Amino acid sequence: MTETASEMAIEQVRRLVADAWGLDVQIENLVGFADSNFRLTADDGGQYVLKLSPPGTSLEWLQCQNSATLHLTTSPLAALVPRVVPTRGGEVLLRLDEESEHPRWARLMTYLEGTPLAKVTKRPPLLLEEIGRTLAQLDFALADFDHPGAHRECFWDLTTTPNNAHFATYIDDPSRRALVEAHLQRFATRVTPRLSELECAVIHNDGNDYNLLVSAPDGGDPHLTGVIDFGDILHTAVVAEIAISCAYLIVDRDEWWDDAMHLIRGYDSVRPLTRLERDLLPDLIIGRICASLMFSSYGRHSNPDNAYLQISEAPMWRQLERMAMDDHSRLAPAVDTACRRAPNRSIDQILSIRERHVGRNLSVSYSEPLKIVRGESQYLIDDQGRRFLDLVNNVCHVGHCHPHVVAAGQRQMAELNTNTRYLHDNLADYALKLTVTFPDPLSVCFFVCTGTEANDLALRLARTHSGTREIIVLEHAYHGHSPSLIEIGTYKCEGPGGEGLAEHAHAAPLPDPYRGPHRGGDAGARYGNEVRAMVAELSAAGRPPGAFMAESLIGCGGQVIPPDGFMPAAFQAVRAAGGVCIADEVQVGFGRAGSHFWAFEALDVVPDIVTLGKPIGNGHPMAAVVTTPEIAASFVTGMEYFNTFGGNPVSCAIGLAVLEVIESEGLQEHARVLGEQFLDGFREMAPRHRLIGDVRGLGLFLGVELVRDHDTLEPADTEASAAIDAMRNRGFLLSTDGPLHNVLKIKPPMVLTAEDVAAVLENVDEVLDEIEARR
Ligand SMILES: Cc1ncc(COP(=O)(O)O)c(C=O)c1O
Repeated sequence: MTETASEMAIEQVRRLVADAWGLDVQIENLVGFADSNFRLTADDGGQYVLKLSPPGTSLEWLQCQNSATLHLTTSPLAALVPRVVPTRGGEVLLRLDEESEHPRWARLMTYLEGTPLAKVTKRPPLLLEEIGRTLAQLDFALADFDHPGAHRECFWDLTTTPNNAHFATYIDDPSRRALVEAHLQRFATRVTPRLSELECAVIHNDGNDYNLLVSAPDGGDPHLTGVIDFGDILHTAVVAEIAISCAYLIVDRDEWWDDAMHLIRGYDSVRPLTRLERDLLPDLIIGRICASLMFSSYGRHSNPDNAYLQISEAPMWRQLERMAMDDHSRLAPAVDTACRRAPNRSIDQILSIRERHVGRNLSVSYSEPLKIVRGESQYLIDDQGRRFLDLVNNVCHVGHCHPHVVAAGQRQMAELNTNTRYLHDNLADYALKLTVTFPDPLSVCFFVCTGTEANDLALRLARTHSGTREIIVLEHAYHGHSPSLIEIGTYKCEGPGGEGLAEHAHAAPLPDPYRGPHRGGDAGARYGNEVRAMVAELSAAGRPPGAFMAESLIGCGGQVIPPDGFMPAAFQAVRAAGGVCIADEVQVGFGRAGSHFWAFEALDVVPDIVTLGKPIGNGHPMAAVVTTPEIAASFVTGMEYFNTFGGNPVSCAIGLAVLEVIESEGLQEHARVLGEQFLDGFREMAPRHRLIGDVRGLGLFLGVELVRDHDTLEPADTEASAAIDAMRNRGFLLSTDGPLHNVLKIKPPMVLTAEDVAAVLENVDEVLDEIEARR
């Protein structure tokens, strides 16, 4: 690590650059830690940095640095990071010393204007916040970047600082050594045990004041012009990024405390720090100061001539000593304040604020409500740091806060968000990528923001095309919360506060082959006949249906999988009367059904209109309607359809990222496999539990119906609710559904694992044992 870079004569550098890059340059030596760096000015004024690695440098690590900077060239930070300049032969890494077993490598980067922050004493709060924000943006931009070269053991991995404790022996002064050792001990007991809870990703890992460039045009306030030197890039805890910058930037500053808070505030405003990250930040900052001091003490022993290694050693000691004098308990709350956090309200406080200031017709899950502060893959984490397996969120489809989706949204948000009256590639890309997932003739999209909007628009399309508002829906259906949908969905309009079905809406029996009037092998055909009879009756009355609307797999009705033959029969009857068929895939689309990307495909039908929502944006509010060219043409009446937010560049970037993740992580097939594991597991345990009446599902859309009596099917609603409470106490978030509130519903983020499924099965088994023993 301390090997000094081999010098290369200026003349040799000139020749190398002329041969490989075809540039005639003026050369100036720059200080560097491991690399030899030269600043080059070409004849045309172009400025570059030539970096020569010391012999034996890991090629993989250099490739990692290059790939990261390349990755950032398509991010909003492109102008702030150096760009790799390939040779005339297109190489981004040029091997020197062809003969040597330990070759050196040359890289040419663009030169960024600016003065190292280390040379600038004027550091106004706005500059520090800008630095914090930029580091957070860098972390966002790198969130979907990875490279094997970033996964390495490294002295500068802040999370492993205590592993370097033996370097403390190089600290000559016993009291200073004791100070460092005491902190390492504290780090090992307070930080190390919680490391596995921290989000990890590739980070720059060295935002010190020599790697941050600033400029103050016309003597005005300085601003950030560059973040350089990706030589410490590493896959580690993301919070290390801001901790490291803080450690270096506060050294020798009178206002060190305020400076740190400005940096942290800026960072948090872009990438909100978690409770745990905020708690650990003071120890991480001190940890880096200790690491730096150990390293410079070691450097002084092993390499007394390298001045760079000793930069800022004395002020660092002063900083450590004054921080050691400050009570740790004062630092964490200051970090909280810097992050402008409310003082971590209790559940009761939040409930009371909601009661006064938020419309009350919104229920809260669980008898003991949860305050969830963070989501990660298939987990939700509460304010106590408890981790729950999320088994009901079909919105965060590819996992909570999936880094690829978050980064896509972040990137586009930093670039442009506007309405669809301007042309943008994202809308075109998304329309193309979304429509190829549909069978013909479904090929025309409308982009909206919620499932309700999608279904409301579907109704308008159907009405315009068929010329009538008459519609057949299924009993217990829920399609959205607008008046047009409340009045056709009995789940709401026949429940508390409802006003009953609208005159134009007609509810066919829920095709429930377990509890409904038609059971057994021909249930599908018999439920189909019910729709056929309804169509005939309406037609005879001169009111033929213009539409049939149903969820492909039925959620609010109790996780019902329509029996074979039902949908084809219903579609056929409605179409014969001139109506169109609308499949509501708001809950069940995007591969959840496992066997197919769209659930209707598993039912052997092709709808005329399909509505999409929830999973489409992994939590970002977006939705869509996909229909046929013919129906879309009928809707061209002269009245414009404009949607302020629908299809905006940010939503489309996010939608594209979701499709990419479903594909790249093979989530549809994964849902099929896990769905079978669930069904097999529940069916295996069913004979042991009187309460289990029915087990059903397709892919990761499942229901377990609980009954008190297998003949009367008396619904076990209180038992179902006791089961979800007990599961919650065991760390599993489930909920109930169905008109009788007795169906355990499972529709988790699709990144659930086979181990998770096994754990759910085992715990449900035990919980049902407990409940059955009590009865
Ligand atoms: C089947 C179905 N359709 C439509 C909607 C309405 O979607 P949103 O809440 O996004 O308006 C929902 C929401 O729960 C739903 O489950």
